[in-house]
Amino acid sequence: MDQIDSTDLAVLEAEYKKFKAVKSRSLLKKYLTQDVFDKLKHRVTASGATLYDCIKSGLANPDSSIGVYAPDAESYTLFHELYDPIIDEYHGGFSPKEYHPGINFGTADALGDLNEWGNYVVSTRVRCARSIEGYPFNPLMTSEHYAELEQDVENALDMLDDDLAGYYRSLNRITIQEQDELIAGHLLFKRGDRFLEAADACRFWPDGRGIFLNSDNTLVIWVNEEDHLRIISMQEGGDLAQVYDRFVRAVTALGNRLPFSFSQRLGFLSFCPTNLGTAIRASVHIRLPNLGKDKRILEDAADQFNLQVRGTAGEHSEAKDYTFDISNRRRLGLTEIECLQEMYDGVKEIIRLEKSMDKGNSRSRKNSTY
Ligand code: ADP
Ligand code: ARG
Repeated sequence: MDQIDSTDLAVLEAEYKKFKAVKSRSLLKKYLTQDVFDKLKHRVTASGATLYDCIKSGLANPDSSIGVYAPDAESYTLFHELYDPIIDEYHGGFSPKEYHPGINFGTADALGDLNEWGNYVVSTRVRCARSIEGYPFNPLMTSEHYAELEQDVENALDMLDDDLAGYYRSLNRITIQEQDELIAGHLLFKRGDRFLEAADACRFWPDGRGIFLNSDNTLVIWVNEEDHLRIISMQEGGDLAQVYDRFVRAVTALGNRLPFSFSQRLGFLSFCPTNLGTAIRASVHIRLPNLGKDKRILEDAADQFNLQVRGTAGEHSEAKDYTFDISNRRRLGLTEIECLQEMYDGVKEIIRLEKSMDKGNSRSRKNSTY
């Protein structure tokens, strides 16, 4: 194993010292104790990543919830004393001795339409992250890596057929106005994420970044944003079975053409430890005027079913018109179909709760003297 050089070590020591004095509720703060820091501070991966590369974002953003990324696949093992407890806590119990189960997409037939119980779900989306073997993750990618990887992916995307067929557009070829329209339509990633920027994940932007869309915008593929690939299936309404069926066909077709990074223990490898294992986030945009009046009640209900609540424009955004993004929180330690089932069952319960508050509201209206 290589050792960090003395200048880099001095910077790392100084930054950690500052961080120790800062208040933060991040998992980085919780698990990067002095003891762990001292154990890891000299280590360097084969592609040159140090502990500083793993924690930079969390040091610069004390309001992070996690605070770490992995600059390359090896970081998850070389710095495991830091990643293990973070992974364990985020994914709701995944000890260092545990192994991610084998891939099992199951069948979409078990899932149905989430609007079966009323028109609460505005749209449904299932996405996963994928990395391509042989490339480091964003902070260690060179401009040649970006160009090469984008070309490999574009060639693979050209082979998608039938309802999956579409076209790839490099961000360099889309005007800012067009990008903003795609972002507003929930199709494209945002620019300038401060957590990614602080992790050195936005270098050479927009080179190598782009978006693929099929003809009806129900299959969306992001290239070289946070991860090498984000594969997304989405549509209006609550037909989770249809969204998932398209998702599985697209992931399988691309997996036959591109070598996805996979670890026996951690499943599919990605830049952020929240996106390991299946790397799946299955979400609904759902309108909850009753539950949404008190965000704490909604958060408590979501916690109970291992769900995560985000705002209408995704992570780190606010909900508009009581429309929330609700998704499975765990992605590692359970199979693909179990992730979907967890979201499906939880959302069903959330809808039941929302409906019961309707009844409560009409009862209190009846009892009111006005
Ligand atoms: P990711 O899902 O890739 O982790 P974000 O939370 O930032 O990233 O979401 C990316 C985009 O996807 C945002 O515009 C968000 O509003 C949109 N989105 C997420 N879930 C849904 C959904 N169920 N329906 C429509 N758009 C969605
Ligand atoms: N690094 C950010 C934080 O710790 C985001 C973590 C999860 N989200 C993600 N897009 N990887 O809050």
